[in-house]
Amino acid sequence: MQPSRRKTPLFPETGTMKSRKNNNLPIFVVAFSVFLFGVFMYNEDVKSIAEFPFSSRPKAQEIQEDTPKLSKTIEDITKRIKESEATVSVNSRTQLEDTHMDDSEETQEQDNNLVSTTTTEKEDEQRIELPVVEEEDDEEVELPPEDCDLFTGQWVFDNVTHPLYKEDECEFLTAQVTCMRNGRKDSLFQNWRWQPRDCSLPKFKGRLLLEKLRNKRLMFVGDSLNRNQWESMVCFAQSIIPPGRKSLNKTGSLSIFRIEDYNATVEFYWAPFLVESNSDDPNMHSILNRIIMPESINKHGENWKGVDYLIFNTYIWWMNTFSMKVLRGSFDQGDTEYDEIDRPVAYGRVLKTWANWVNQNIDPNHTMVFFTSMSPLHIKSLDWNNSDGIKCAKETMPVQNISAPLEVGTDRRLFRIADNVTHSLKVPVYFLNITTLSEYRKDAHTSVYTIRQGKMLTPEQQADPATYADCIHWCLPGLPDTWNEFLYARIISRRS
Ligand SMILES: *[C@@H]1O[C@H](CO)[C@@H](O)[C@H](O)[C@H]1NC(C)=O
Ligand SMILES: *[C@@H]1O[C@H](CO)[C@@H](O)[C@H](O)[C@H]1NC(C)=O
Ligand SMILES: *[C@@H]1O[C@H](CO)[C@@H](O)[C@H](O)[C@H]1NC(C)=O
Ligand SMILES: *[C@@H]1O[C@H](CO)[C@@H](O)[C@H](O)[C@H]1NC(C)=O
Ligand SMILES: *[C@@H]1O[C@H](CO)[C@@H](O)[C@H](O)[C@H]1NC(C)=O
Ligand SMILES: *[C@@H]1O[C@H](CO)[C@@H](O)[C@H](O)[C@H]1NC(C)=O
Ligand SMILES: *[C@@H]1O[C@H](CO)[C@@H](O)[C@H](O)[C@H]1NC(C)=O
Ligand SMILES: *[C@@H]1O[C@H](CO)[C@@H](O)[C@H](O)[C@H]1NC(C)=O
Repeated sequence: MQPSRRKTPLFPETGTMKSRKNNNLPIFVVAFSVFLFGVFMYNEDVKSIAEFPFSSRPKAQEIQEDTPKLSKTIEDITKRIKESEATVSVNSRTQLEDTHMDDSEETQEQDNNLVSTTTTEKEDEQRIELPVVEEEDDEEVELPPEDCDLFTGQWVFDNVTHPLYKEDECEFLTAQVTCMRNGRKDSLFQNWRWQPRDCSLPKFKGRLLLEKLRNKRLMFVGDSLNRNQWESMVCFAQSIIPPGRKSLNKTGSLSIFRIEDYNATVEFYWAPFLVESNSDDPNMHSILNRIIMPESINKHGENWKGVDYLIFNTYIWWMNTFSMKVLRGSFDQGDTEYDEIDRPVAYGRVLKTWANWVNQNIDPNHTMVFFTSMSPLHIKSLDWNNSDGIKCAKETMPVQNISAPLEVGTDRRLFRIADNVTHSLKVPVYFLNITTLSEYRKDAHTSVYTIRQGKMLTPEQQADPATYADCIHWCLPGLPDTWNEFLYARIISRRS
C-alpha cells in the first residue's frame, strides 16, 4: 500500500516566488554591527557566543514545552507572524559563529568508545525475520527524473510516512541526537516530508538501499554535521537487519558500521576541513586556534580510496573566525607560523585541493561522489521574527513563509564556491543542495535535549537554553533523514 504522497501543505502558499523586497538596514548600520560583532568575536574574554544577548529575554526563562496540538500551533504561528508584522525587524546580518561547537564536538567523544554489537544471540535471531518489508518488495519504486531539481519544493506535514524509523528502533543513535529520549516533548519535527516541486522523492525501502550497498562501502567524510547524517544513514541501513548481524566499530578517525549479510559498510571519517588541520584528532579537537594546510589532503585521502559512495562536507569549522589561519610549512616539520587569509579564499583553495584529489583518485565507473552544502544554524530567533524566542529552543514548527530564503547567517559565499567547484570536476559530483531547505527547519535542532562534554545536560542547564541550546546539530529521526532521502534517490538510481 503506497501511502499518499500528494502535496498536503499545512499552509498553502498563496504568494509564489516573488522576489524579496530589499528591506535591509542602511549599509552603514550593517557595517557597524559587523564591526561590533568582529570586536565581540575577537574578545578573548568571551568564552561562549551563547553569552551574547541575542534575545532580550531574561536568561532564566524556561522553555515552554506544552506539546501543543497542531492546530493550536498553527494558530500560534499565525499569531506570531501577525505580531511580527507590526514589529520593527532589526536585521543586522552577522555571522553567528558558534564556539559552543567545540563543546558539542567534544561531547561526542565519550560516546566514541568502541561500541560493538557483534553478538549473535539465538533469541534475537529467531525474533527477527520480520516480514515487514517483504510485502513492500514487490512494489515498484518510482525514480524521479534525472533532471528534476529535488531541492526546490516545500515541507509538508506527513505523519503517515515520516519519520522513516523510530528513535527507539535504532540502537546506534548516540545520545547527542536522541532528543525525545533526552526529554524533548514535542515530536512534530519528525513528521515533515520534503516534497520537491516538480517530482517526488522515491519511497524509502531499506532492502532496496541494501541491495545497492551489497559488497560496497559508503563513507561520509567531514565534520560533525556529516556525522549527524551518517548516524541517520546507519539507521536507514540497519532497519531490516536482525540484531547480531550488524556492528559499529569506532577506531580513531574512522567509524565503521558493518552489515554482515550484505558485506556492506556505512562509514564516517572525521576530517572537519577535508584537508589537513590541527583539528583532525577525532577526540581532542577542541581547538579555538584552528590552522589548516589547504594544499595537503593525501594523508586523509588515503583512507577514502576505493570507497564506492563518498559523501563530503565542510562548513561549520570555518565559522569561528572571519579569516582562516593557513600554516606556513607543515605540521610534520613542527612549523607553527601561519598567515591569516579571508575565509572564502581559503575555502576556495581547500575545495580546489579536494577537487584535484577527486579527479586524480576517483574512478567514476566505480565511485559515486557527493558534496553536501552547508548545514545552517538557528541562533537568533529574530531571524524568523520570533521576538519571544531563545535561539532555536522554543521552536516546534518549520518556518512557513518560504516565499524567500530565510536569512540565518549562512555564509553564502562558501555556498557559491562549493556549487561552482563541485560542478567543474572531470569526475561527476552530485551537489546535495540542502542549505535553503534546512534553513526553514528552526524546529529540528537538538537544542537542550543533547549532551555536552559527554554528559546529558542537567535540568538546570536545560532550563537555560540561551547558554546551552545546541542550534547546530539535529535531532534524529529528523532533518538529516531528508538529506539521506536525496542520497538514497541517487544511490538507487545507480545502474550497477
Ligand atoms: C513572507 O516573506 C515575504 C518575503 O520576505 C514578505 O514580503 C512577506 O511579508 C512574508 N509574509 C509573512 C506572512 O510574513
Ligand atoms: C538550491 O536549492 C534552493 C531551494 O532549496 C534553490 O533556490 C537554489 O537555487 C538551489 N541552488 C543550487 C545551486 O542548486
Ligand atoms: C497525524 O496527524 C493528524 C493531524 O494532526 C492526527 O489527527 C493523527 O492522529 C496523526 N496520526 C498519527 C499516527 O500520529
Ligand atoms: C566485500 O566488500 C568488500 C569491500 O567493499 C569487497 O572488496 C569484497 O570483494 C567483498 N567481498 C565479497 C565476498 O564480495
Ligand atoms: C575494530 O576495528 C579495529 C581496527 O580495524 C580492530 O583492530 C578491532 O579489532 C575492531 N574491533 C572489533 C570489536 O571488531
Ligand atoms: C568507464 O566505463 C566506460 C564504459 O564502460 C569506459 O569506456 C571507460 O573507459 C571507463 N572509464 C574508466 C576510467 O575506467
Ligand atoms: C520577518 O518580518 C519581515 C518584515 O516584516 C519580513 O520581510 C520577513 O519575511 C519576515 N520573516 C519571516 C521568516 O517571516
Ligand atoms: C566559478 O568558477 C569559474 C571558473 O572556474 C570562475 O571564473 C568564477 O569566478 C567562479 N565563481 C565563484 C563565485 O567562485
